[in-house]
Amino acid sequence: EPEIITEKNQMRKWSRAMRAKGETIGLVPTMGYLHEGHISLIKEAHKRTSLIVVSIYVNPGQFSPTEDLSTYPSDFHSDIRKLMAVPGGVDVVFHPHNLYDYGKSKTTGLKNGGGSSNCENSSGGVDGEVEKKGVMSCVEERGLGHETWVRVERLEKVMCGKSRPVFFRGVATVVTKLFNIVEPDVAVFGKKDYQQWRIIQRMVRDLDFSIEVIGSDVMRDNDGLALSSRNVHLSPEEREKALSISKSLLRAKFSAEKGQVNCRELRNLVTQAVDKAGGRIDYAEIVDQESLEAVEEIKSPVVFCIAAWFGKVRLIDNMEINI
Ligand code: PAJ
Repeated sequence: EPEIITEKNQMRKWSRAMRAKGETIGLVPTMGYLHEGHISLIKEAHKRTSLIVVSIYVNPGQFSPTEDLSTYPSDFHSDIRKLMAVPGGVDVVFHPHNLYDYGKSKTTGLKNGGGSSNCENSSGGVDGEVEKKGVMSCVEERGLGHETWVRVERLEKVMCGKSRPVFFRGVATVVTKLFNIVEPDVAVFGKKDYQQWRIIQRMVRDLDFSIEVIGSDVMRDNDGLALSSRNVHLSPEEREKALSISKSLLRAKFSAEKGQVNCRELRNLVTQAVDKAGGRIDYAEIVDQESLEAVEEIKSPVVFCIAAWFGKVRLIDNMEINI
């Protein structure tokens, strides 16, 4: 049975004590509502470190006030049961209550002390300039004293960053916090969230974190749908239609492997299939695997990334094309 730790000081104390004993620590950050995709990351971590920490924290910093923070699914007890069944086990579940609340005495100063008076239209302690750019997360909305953010400036702006302008800032920041609290040797991320994985890798390189970042393969249901905590919100009909994403991505990959290197043709294949199924495409891009820059003709390893809405659910998926 994993030890459940909710306090950051206690978490850090545990990690330091274990490392002093010569143990190595693998961290798997999650937002809970665990599925086989999350479990596969734990298995990857087990290959590399002697101890495993899984964090479960729904991070308000990566949700905008209009997104689905309040309906994000959670079931902590079921998560613990699933973790108990993982081969090799999980040593600690880090389950903080609020990573942005630093206590009352430190929350003053944002509303009036920042030199900004441009707050008329803002709720909470929102900086005027930040809000103008449309960059406001549920952390600012709550008016907490937190104001330091990590941004991976170019990578955070493409693909998912276009429709979710606060998302990667919130991810990079909470992952930084988790790295500083858990102090792991290795951290494992899923390639399901391909852009997220690349952003964390870049951040770790650029800011000299002494942590090895591992990318782990996308886990799918038998019918091909990429596993996601949000799939629970799909009706059976929507779920069926959403299969158009993985099916057409796979066809595009085969087509590329057979010699179709024209990305416009490959993208049409996918967008038409998803359109026909009634999905609303957010983006469908073929990009370089590292720079995430769009390519027109495949000459080196690329990844085909897509985001699409089915009903009220936004799904993402991707397929690496290595030719
Ligand atoms: P969450 O969506 O819970 O995902 C946690 C980790 O599981 C991420 O690294 C994600 O890529 C991975 N994952 C999810 N579905 C997967 C699948 N089908 N196959 C393989 N891996 C999968 O991603 C987040 O949480 C958050 O943004 C977080 C990194 C925890 C920061 O808050």
